[in-house]
Amino acid sequence: MANEEMKKAVAVKAVDEYVKDGMTVGLGTGSTAYHAINRIGELVNDNGYDLRFVATSVRSEEQARGLGLEVLDVNDVERVDLTIDGADEVDPSMQLIKGLGGALIREKIIAAASVAEVIIVDETKLVDKLGTKAPLPVEVLRFGHRKTKYALELQGCTAVLRLGEDGDPFVTDNGNYIYDCRFPQGIDSPFFLETRINVIPGTVDNGLFLNTASTVLVSHPDGTIDKMGA
Ligand code: A5P
Repeated sequence: MANEEMKKAVAVKAVDEYVKDGMTVGLGTGSTAYHAINRIGELVNDNGYDLRFVATSVRSEEQARGLGLEVLDVNDVERVDLTIDGADEVDPSMQLIKGLGGALIREKIIAAASVAEVIIVDETKLVDKLGTKAPLPVEVLRFGHRKTKYALELQGCTAVLRLGEDGDPFVTDNGNYIYDCRFPQGIDSPFFLETRINVIPGTVDNGLFLNTASTVLVSHPDGTIDKMGA
């Protein structure tokens, strides 16, 4: 199975197993979540499911609206029953790095508001230690961002300002910049690091999603899908 097929297979499995009629569903962001949104569109348009949605990015909101799905402002929603989202790294205890797609803040807010967070990945995202494959994205205010970078690097990483395709700094849906932080030996203590980063002035939040996933589904090239968690 090619990588794209693995993404689609795990996305379809998550939707078919976890989305129930009547739910309010959080829509993730990224190339794996993309397939989940399309499958959810089929449940609504072909199977008559009555669902409402909140989106973790403008991109996913536009995709959902294009499928005719009803996307609400998360402030107007009493409870999010389930969110299905991708991840950039998953460690053996289901701790995550997210945000290579640039949507980390909205993803974290919606994950925190969700009763269940189902993470969908292919096996290339599995790591023994966070930070060994992916950088840790940190969303920062534009004001004084080079000072924020300096403070980030005091945590033992190399922080690189993310650029867009046009070569200018990438700007998030919230109007901020992202620094991608590479830790040469990976991240030794994710819980300590999360706190240390988030007290740096100018930092909005970082891509460590700790004790956030209730389930992780992992697809493999032979077509099998493993489950971690509930
Ligand atoms: C978006 O900001 C990210 O957190 C994505 O969920 C993550 O990057 C996974 O994306 P892919 O499914 O495209 O790998």
